[in-house]
Amino acid sequence: MIVCSCNVLSHKQIEAAAERLVEGAPDRPVTAGRAFRALGTKPQCGGCLELIRHLVREMGIPVTCPEPLGSVAEGTAADLPELPVLHREAV
Ligand code: FES
Repeated sequence: MIVCSCNVLSHKQIEAAAERLVEGAPDRPVTAGRAFRALGTKPQCGGCLELIRHLVREMGIPVTCPEPLGSVAEGTAADLPELPVLHREAV
């Protein structure tokens, strides 16, 4: 299945890249950006990013840092402002 139509990347390519990234750095989350870089490309429209995160998450691989950035500063994640939820309309 093609996951990224801009770069014509399949779910198998994304999963293979995620596996390689985990093998190379088991403590680092596998972000969509890292997966793109591992495949020698970069996002164009960004429409596939959430799907890539979903695929990687389903593999049991963390897709974000375990703690929010700045967590060592005062406050907790609950103190952070809520980000807007973006929706894409079907084309
Ligand atoms: S669909 Fe992946 S960058 Fe556009």
